[in-house]
Amino acid sequence: MNVTLRQLRVFESVARHLSFTRASEELFLTQPAVSMQIKQLEGQVGLPLFEQLGKRIYLTEAGRELVGFARRIMRELREAQLVMEELQGLNRGRLGVAVATTANYFATHLLAAFSRRNPGVSFSLDVTNREGLLRLLMENERDVVIMGQPPEGQELVADAFMANPLVVIANPDHPLTREHDIPPERLQNELFVVRERGSGTRVAMERFFARQGVQLQSEMEMSSNEALKQAVQAGLGLGLVSQHTLAMELSLGCLAILDVVGFPIQRQWYVVHRAGKRLSPVAAEFRRFVLEEAEDHWQLPQQPTDSSA
Ligand code: PGA
Repeated sequence: MNVTLRQLRVFESVARHLSFTRASEELFLTQPAVSMQIKQLEGQVGLPLFEQLGKRIYLTEAGRELVGFARRIMRELREAQLVMEELQGLNRGRLGVAVATTANYFATHLLAAFSRRNPGVSFSLDVTNREGLLRLLMENERDVVIMGQPPEGQELVADAFMANPLVVIANPDHPLTREHDIPPERLQNELFVVRERGSGTRVAMERFFARQGVQLQSEMEMSSNEALKQAVQAGLGLGLVSQHTLAMELSLGCLAILDVVGFPIQRQWYVVHRAGKRLSPVAAEFRRFVLEEAEDHWQLPQQPTDSSA
């Protein structure tokens, strides 16, 4: 069916007014031009769209069906036009961002700073673990993703922008908080609270201890950094988290970072999108902002130096 948008527009107008004359007035066309468009459309469709009874015209069944499609097509076209207009200006775009559970501790600060500078931009933010993010990337569901290093061999554009040190944490009363240069093997005797499978922190932790030949005892699994920190604070065991998650606990002194040899495990944060994806101007600007300015808007939380007292 080789139908043009112009034919559909004329047809919709005639169908709405049930009058060739009124449609020609609305569209600033001559009446023969309107009749010609309808005739060509009927030729393409292979069925009459109007029937004449006395002086009045009516839609045929095919006409009634087609007018629904014509309206939907025109509505979609208007929508597309609106979206294109929005994308042309940084000030009216929409940004879909997905971040790792662990990255959320700083991502909201970055979004706040970006939004102060571009007040017209609206956001949606998804927070999920590494596995969830890889799925979103494969489905091409978000403009920009912030996560740990993505796996090789995927069609992704990934650039590192900030360090992500992973540390071992303990309740401040734990005896190991008073020791220095703790060999990783010593941790074999300790109970550990760990993140859920699918978490990037968990993957990095397992890789580190496997390389050291250390087997951790009785792992208790927690599905969020918050739950894990609470458990460690409550004395359930030691934990391993990104230092980025510890702003509050380090400043309140309710968790301590242990001085374990080989730690912190040095990871990086990456800003990622699918290769070949066409970034909107807002998404491209946000990506630039993260790569060039993230560290101006977020400082890695530090353990106070006199906390061993
Ligand atoms: P996650 O952090 O542990 O919240 O998945 C992401 C990562 O470190 O890759």
